Amino acid sequence: MTDEPLVLGIETSCDETGVGIVRGETLLVDAIASSVDEHARFGGVVPEVASRAHLEAMVPTIERACATAGVALTDLDGIAVTSGPGLAGALMVGVASAKALGIGLGVPVYGVNHLASHVAVDIVEHGPLPEPTMALLVSGGHSSLLLVPDVTDDIRPLGSTIDDAAGEAFDKVARVLGLPFPGGPHIDRAARDGAIEIDFPRGLTSGRDMERHRYDFSFSGLKTAVSRWVQARQAAGEDVPVADVAASFQEAVTDVLTRKAILACQEQGVGHLQIGGGVAANTRLRAMAQERCDRAGIQLRVPRPGLCTDNGAMVASLGAQMMAKGRVPSGLDFPADSSMPVTDVHNEPAGPASAHDALHAG
Ligand code: KG4
Ligand code: ZN
Repeated sequence: MTDEPLVLGIETSCDETGVGIVRGETLLVDAIASSVDEHARFGGVVPEVASRAHLEAMVPTIERACATAGVALTDLDGIAVTSGPGLAGALMVGVASAKALGIGLGVPVYGVNHLASHVAVDIVEHGPLPEPTMALLVSGGHSSLLLVPDVTDDIRPLGSTIDDAAGEAFDKVARVLGLPFPGGPHIDRAARDGAIEIDFPRGLTSGRDMERHRYDFSFSGLKTAVSRWVQARQAAGEDVPVADVAASFQEAVTDVLTRKAILACQEQGVGHLQIGGGVAANTRLRAMAQERCDRAGIQLRVPRPGLCTDNGAMVASLGAQMMAKGRVPSGLDFPADSSMPVTDVHNEPAGPASAHDALHAG
């Protein structure tokens, strides 16, 4: 026996129903059901379709996770669930499921932040997080640079995208190139045979833009530049060199992401960089980050691709850290919060004052 907490994590913020089970810092299982195929023909995630798919997948995915890990629900010490940010209806399915499990089993429930979970997942891959760690989170919904003194309690946003998220740019450019949704993996694959010879813009990296947005990102101008370049080719009746455009676009994104992340490490005196989120699965980003971190004397941590995209293990990992550090559980009245700020790592229980206010509101 071990006294490390056994935690089941539920993730439903977007189109993946993720259920992971973690004991302390050890991943026992990461079960996923994805509705991505149902969204493909719309070229983006449709919230109602995602919510319904979560409802259908929730119980079977929990059962599959427990069976694979050889864990009975009654063995669990706690439940963690993504309470935000994400799609409201999708989050609600996870939050309601977690509360039901918590009540049924008589164990604490932690409503946790999706972004913090992307950081915490690396603990089950590479061990305890150095404190502080710099985290670069890049996915379809967010592109953030975070200073993380303590992943259970203290996350400080340094910068983020001012328009499109990095993954969103991959998805939109893929569309322009006639590649399927979600576009990231297809651009990644196409780029392997391409030459990096088109000089696409690097947003917010020079002059006053850089001064004002030192740690921020912008990918909308890049997306437009790629679009215009492709349209000009088509208008001239020429073939579009898909592989070259993919490689050159990917180079521009990874150049900016790694440049700013390393700058932040150097300026904030942080020796470790962690990269997470779906775009962290990108082959070129992983290679370039490794090269540049090696040169700068920074330790790079990137989880395996399957743990970079949304999953339940990341939520279970953060929940296990919460329990190990004795953080107070969320209670049962926390909401699904589609715009939960990253500074709220988990839902604090409502105190006596706010319970009183709620009772007498209206
Ligand atoms: O973290 P994630 O699964 O979901 C969100 O929270 O958004 O990230 C999904 C995003 C999509 O935009 C997808 O195109 C991108 O991650 N992505 C990639 C790769 N794999 C997934 N982008 C670039 N290269 C990849 N290999
Ligand atoms: Zn995510």
